[in-house]
Amino acid sequence: MTTPATTSDIRERALAELAGATTGPELDEWNIRYLGRERGELSRLLKSIPTLPPAERKPFGEAINALKRELEEAFSGRLDDVRKLELDRKLIYERIDATLPGRGIPFGYEHLLVSIRDEMIETFALLGFEVAEGPEIEDDWHNFTALNTPEDHPARDAQDTFYLQGGGLLRTQTSSVQIRYMEQHKPPIRIIAPGRVYRRDTITPRHYPIFHQIEGLYVDRDVTFADLKGTLHAFARRTFGEGADVRLRPSFFPFTEPSAELDVRCVFCASQGCRICSYSGWIEQGGCGMVDPAVLKNVGIDPEEYTGFAFGMGYDRTAMLKYEIPDIRLFWESDLRFLAQFSEA
Ligand code: DAH
Repeated sequence: MTTPATTSDIRERALAELAGATTGPELDEWNIRYLGRERGELSRLLKSIPTLPPAERKPFGEAINALKRELEEAFSGRLDDVRKLELDRKLIYERIDATLPGRGIPFGYEHLLVSIRDEMIETFALLGFEVAEGPEIEDDWHNFTALNTPEDHPARDAQDTFYLQGGGLLRTQTSSVQIRYMEQHKPPIRIIAPGRVYRRDTITPRHYPIFHQIEGLYVDRDVTFADLKGTLHAFARRTFGEGADVRLRPSFFPFTEPSAELDVRCVFCASQGCRICSYSGWIEQGGCGMVDPAVLKNVGIDPEEYTGFAFGMGYDRTAMLKYEIPDIRLFWESDLRFLAQFSEA
């Protein structure tokens, strides 16, 4: 007779397979195979009962039901185990290691001209200068007339200046900020004004129609040319190093008297003469001078009581000098390979 052997056979197989099931789908399969209502092994046994001799039916039915309860219990115990196993697996795969270094997000780089500007602002801040600002779209008064520039001065020429339709112009120099500031403030005045300026220049390695200047203005009682020279020397030393060499050459600007050209020794050729410095050994860094009394009068400051000095430097040039950059156009290409070289980020 097969009856007892059959249930114990199934029992052994079922429990062994259950122990081997380690995933939800495996458990589902097992459940259908043994406990499934339609085709489960136990259901099949139950269906076979009517074929048995009557005396065997009852004990066989009881044996099956006992086995069924046992397997159901074993199943639910295993189900709990497998759920824990799956959770562990998940935790291993999805584990977060808070000690791992983060993945770097690529940032852009600060533009060299921004770094240079900020460095100059810092240098002049140490000397007591504050930052002032003015508009890039200017009027004739602030860019030329108040700066004592005669009506027929070549700088006003449409070949040099971008005039806008309906009046106005793109400022050709940050000197316009001198006027704006003095119109609003009384001495003592000690400001710098960095920013963009525009001129109708032909593009070459050293010229671009948009460039950057930093203007300086110091107006107070008893300001002298020696103060100007000392300030520019201090600037040059901090920007180019202790041994930095500067030279003031007599020059002319409508808004300063006397006026001078500020030169810095060429670092490209150690003053031997090269393409960058036009074979002179020096590079023009900007202009400077004592504020012309006529300019002070234009803004309502008494030139009998106050004197001042002013300077203006193109700092595209400063950056080129300091980092030996041979072509101004590199500033406009936004090439990260170029910019990355000057960034500490
Ligand atoms: N604005 C002049 C220029 O663009 C530079 C300059 C010269 C500025 C003399 C000054 C100065 O403040 O005093 O060429």
